[in-house]
Amino acid sequence: MAILVTGGAGFIGSHTCVELLNANYEVVVLDNLHNASEKSLDRVKELTGKDVKFYKGDILDRDILNKVFAENKIDSCIHFAGLKAVGESVQKPWEYYENNIAGTLTLVDVMRKNNCKNIIFSSSATVYGNPAEIPITEKCPKGQCTNPYGWTKSMLEQILSDIQKADNEWNVVLLRYFNPIGAHPSGRMGENPNGIPNNLMPYITQVAIGKLPELGVFGDDYDTPDGTGVRDYIHVVDLAQGHVAALKKIEENAGLKIYNLGTGVGYSVLDIVKNFEEANDIKIPYQIKPRRAGDIATCYSDASLAKEELGWSAKYGIKEMCADSWRWQKNNPNGYED
Ligand code: NAD
Ligand code: UFG
Repeated sequence: MAILVTGGAGFIGSHTCVELLNANYEVVVLDNLHNASEKSLDRVKELTGKDVKFYKGDILDRDILNKVFAENKIDSCIHFAGLKAVGESVQKPWEYYENNIAGTLTLVDVMRKNNCKNIIFSSSATVYGNPAEIPITEKCPKGQCTNPYGWTKSMLEQILSDIQKADNEWNVVLLRYFNPIGAHPSGRMGENPNGIPNNLMPYITQVAIGKLPELGVFGDDYDTPDGTGVRDYIHVVDLAQGHVAALKKIEENAGLKIYNLGTGVGYSVLDIVKNFEEANDIKIPYQIKPRRAGDIATCYSDASLAKEELGWSAKYGIKEMCADSWRWQKNNPNGYED
């Protein structure tokens, strides 16, 4: 039995492939390489000593999906494939709804026609909008998203939940990630953003390596201890292991389950700068800038449900996240092109 990992060549997907192979699952990856390099999968093989079957293709393409199901005995799907740039989604809403929603509908249709009804979906803390409670439990109501990307996650949660309710042969696990950072501790795999990064940690590592002159801190007048935005940063290897734990839940015929994957700890932007500097002995110059549109003050999880029901909790601390992010950037200044 194999696990189909859509978007498996991407940042979280590639780290999850390593953990799946280490847990002795067979792995089949489908990725159109829109935001990834096939070389990430060479690194997966290098780190695990095991093979990954790779199909270059799109989740919107029924033919390739049918081929994947015809050629492999797929038991479950971990569905990472999607467009994820918040700002771009505001400029290109149609492309985001088409790729993420139509793509998932196509995938799920081919899955059910092949009698594969187990899916783990990459959702996001963004579905809570401006959260009604902190720390955020899974019972916190979903909120208003501030961009089309966020709405694709919120809508897909609803779509997958409705499909599971209508047909209880489906097992659907919705994983709401908080802020994934870090990289494989080997320094061989990590995040490989195109162009100038939007997210905090890749921006910091590019300042550290001298590609960018300084960090802009978006707002220091939020209602937080130091005025800068607070988030729940989680090491990508912890996040990847959360998927292996979720797969075990699927194997118990879970029905519909929703879990936050976070650490339960909030750090401000300036906390991250300070921890990065201390972990790596590098100064990060920064300047306070105006708030970024759509940002909220504080977002961190109550991570206890995943611990109780999946037996999973995050192991890596903030210093390790900062050290691993930097090791990846330093060893691979141009990502997988090095
Ligand atoms: P990523 O861009 O590195 O990975 C996504 C992968 O999907 C890429 O390899 C891309 O080439 C592929 N892809 C995109 N559209 C596709 C399509 N139509 N067909 C086939 N492949 C396609 O992003 P990531 O950070 O690894 O995120 C993985 C998932 O987790 C995404 O769904 C993302 O929205 C979600 N997520 C990410 C974060 C984050 O901060 N990184 C937070 C919450 C949720
Ligand atoms: N920030 C800066 N300067 C930067 C980049 C970010 O000050 O150059 C700040 C932001 O204002 C925010 C914090 O750093 O306070 C984190 O910002 P990120 O862009 O790294 O992450 P977000 O919390 O905005 O969003 C991320 C993903 C979303 C996902 C969400 C889940 O980009 O896709 O986490 O919590 F939905």
